[in-house]
Amino acid sequence: MAEDPNCLICASDAVLERGTAFRFEIPAEPRNLPAFVIRYQGKVYGYINACRHMPVQLDWREGEVFDLSGHFLICSLHGARYLPDSGLCIGGPCRGQRLLPLTTKEANGMIYYVKPITAPVRPNPESTE
Ligand code: FES
Repeated sequence: MAEDPNCLICASDAVLERGTAFRFEIPAEPRNLPAFVIRYQGKVYGYINACRHMPVQLDWREGEVFDLSGHFLICSLHGARYLPDSGLCIGGPCRGQRLLPLTTKEANGMIYYVKPITAPVRPNPESTE
């Protein structure tokens, strides 16, 4: 039986419009990846919590990733600004790059991220085994 690709993050009401991000971790090796979900213009977006300039988390205080306007995500270290709905950096030292997005899903009052589907390992056709 296939593994369920949906991983519960939190209840929908834990992520308010342009409010504090809900932080969580994605299991990974050698260490878990910090991530967050936000709500912007009614829709939930998820990203790996790592600036594209340097590998630091964006928050200036835990879960605080929006700037004062509420229309941009901002890195607390050097001020890179990202569009909340695409992760595109539109100002700062990593302009033109994007936050790493997560596929999210909201259903029945809950928010999930959807694990990426990895392609099955195919045998090498040139292998003699
Ligand atoms: S580390 Fe984020 S802008 Fe420099």
